[in-house]
Amino acid sequence: MATRIFDHGRIERNITILLILALVTVAIGGIVEIAPLFWIDSTIEKVKGMRPYTPLEQAGRDIYIREGCYSCHSQMIRPFRDEVERYGHYSLAAESMYDHPFQWGSERTGPDLARVGGRYSDEWHVQHLKDPRAVVPESIMPPYAFLARHELFVPDAGANLRALKRVGVPYDKGQVDNAAADLMAQADPDADHKDFQKRYPAAQVRDFDGDPKRVTEMDALVAYLQVLGTMVDTKAAAAKEQAQ
Ligand code: HEC
Repeated sequence: MATRIFDHGRIERNITILLILALVTVAIGGIVEIAPLFWIDSTIEKVKGMRPYTPLEQAGRDIYIREGCYSCHSQMIRPFRDEVERYGHYSLAAESMYDHPFQWGSERTGPDLARVGGRYSDEWHVQHLKDPRAVVPESIMPPYAFLARHELFVPDAGANLRALKRVGVPYDKGQVDNAAADLMAQADPDADHKDFQKRYPAAQVRDFDGDPKRVTEMDALVAYLQVLGTMVDTKAAAAKEQAQ
């Protein structure tokens, strides 16, 4: 019989040829999947409404991480019916593109927080963080009352934004230069917010912790919780999907 290269019997009995051909086959599959990632600019679909966090929200985020809230709370709604019915539209990749580090999490002792913004009033959050069982009697969440006593101390808000800029968050010069002032202005109802609102369109400005005299860690954390999942108009995103 004439020797044929693709004689299966031959290939399967020769471990060297089998290995080489298996490697070549797997490599083709790998290249087809991986190579395009080197040529496209981004794997994240752009969505309207996403903006970087304000200095105050970012400070709240740092407190969230410092206190280990992620050990009980995820921030990632999966595209399953039970999750979408409970928490809202599933999380979009773009919604965590400015998160460094991201807070998707893998543990849900408490509910997912990806869309908790606007679901409760500031007063509810303050009360709940001070004493969770005062509002949810069966809660096992620990109290964080000290946050309302600690004045917010961010040694260099501009440096924080600069560091984030270095990893790709598009803060501009005005946002970096005015970070310290913006940090305080967002939680001070009496401050002049014109420039702040220009730098962070649609950002919420008010006293978050119910103590207008001071800017506390509670202000920062509540400002952060109240913005979660609110930047993107998910109703429009859902309608677009339906139309497709
Ligand atoms: C030991 C686990 C645990 C930790 C740590 C924890 N939580 Fe919770 N959290 C829970 C549980 C359980 C609930 C549900 C009961 C309740 O509402 O208190 C909850 C509820 C919440 C809710 C209400 C969510 C909703 O949709 O009703 C918010 C907001 C929240 N936590 C924020 C935080 C923040 C911020 C931190 C960190 C400062 C934190 N949690 C730390 C367990 C935890």
